[in-house]
Amino acid sequence: MTAGQDGKGARMASPLKVAVAGLGTVGSGTIKLLQQNADRLTERLGRTILITAVCDKDHSPRDYPVDGYRWYDDAIRMVAETDADVIVELIGGAEGPARAVCERALAAGRHVVTANKALIAHHGMALAATAEANGVTLAYEAAVAGGIPIIKTLREGLIGNERRQVFGILNGTCNYILTGMRDTGREFEAVLAEAQALGYAEADPSFDVDGIDTAHKLAILATVAFGCTLDFKAVHVEGIRHVSPVDIAYADELGYRIKLLGIAALTDRGVERRVHPCMVPAGAQIAHVEGVFNALVVDGDFVDTVVQVGRGAGELDVLAVEDPVATHQRDAQALGLHLLAQRARVRVLAPVV
Ligand code: HSE
Repeated sequence: MTAGQDGKGARMASPLKVAVAGLGTVGSGTIKLLQQNADRLTERLGRTILITAVCDKDHSPRDYPVDGYRWYDDAIRMVAETDADVIVELIGGAEGPARAVCERALAAGRHVVTANKALIAHHGMALAATAEANGVTLAYEAAVAGGIPIIKTLREGLIGNERRQVFGILNGTCNYILTGMRDTGREFEAVLAEAQALGYAEADPSFDVDGIDTAHKLAILATVAFGCTLDFKAVHVEGIRHVSPVDIAYADELGYRIKLLGIAALTDRGVERRVHPCMVPAGAQIAHVEGVFNALVVDGDFVDTVVQVGRGAGELDVLAVEDPVATHQRDAQALGLHLLAQRARVRVLAPVV
């Protein structure tokens, strides 16, 4: 559809052109959603989202149509040649092509949408500054807690509340493993292999099981929730490798579930940020969040406790498509991590050990 009148006589904006870098589990899920819900999105937005280009080195057949898109092997080249308004980066990794694609796209005045938690946790401040300097948006909703819209919840829905703490289950693979160990009594390695086969785990699963992925997400969450500087190194990190079926059985007997939690809390000494396995009382809502699902708990001064639960990993976890929608709806100068950090009034704690 082009600018001007649609078939019903209503004014329609020109399509929002999108180029997608990375057609793995997340990228493929994003494209399928944009294809399958295209009419609904156009109706709701008054604007069509048009995928114009995709990029992946792997040319094996996909279970969705790709013929209409210009296909690139090289993501940097795609950014240089495309006329897309939005670059969706779903390559992954804090460095290499993922970082270069985002830097170049923002510098070229294109909005960037990314689900890349490692990239944002390590380079989010610099990328946000580049976005602001160029009048475009860096959107990263899907980088934290998959399908749960926690970034929007904190920035918009709960903007009026002073947050006391934000915590939750942020890694689907670890929750899947802990759930599987509890349900079947199997050892850690056996359930990890299953999570990998299902496409939940990172390319290097130590990122999941050693708590690093949760720490990436928590670092971002803490900055959005409390306005502290984005600092991955300030997060205390401990994973679930050493948790055995016996630990889980004893916890059960005592009335607890073992969950890997990411916790950001406002204390008298500043913002505490930590990731480690926790004994969660069996009566707590998040004790019953099982399998690949994530959960977030926000404690606010007026709203009290808000709990959100949703799928945390896999093809359907991505709200990346929400973000190009947001770049279309909100001002280009939307509040970014950079501005949030500049406004920080809280001190930052050293890692808790
Ligand atoms: N490996 C991640 C997880 C993917 O298991 O949660 C989603 O970020």
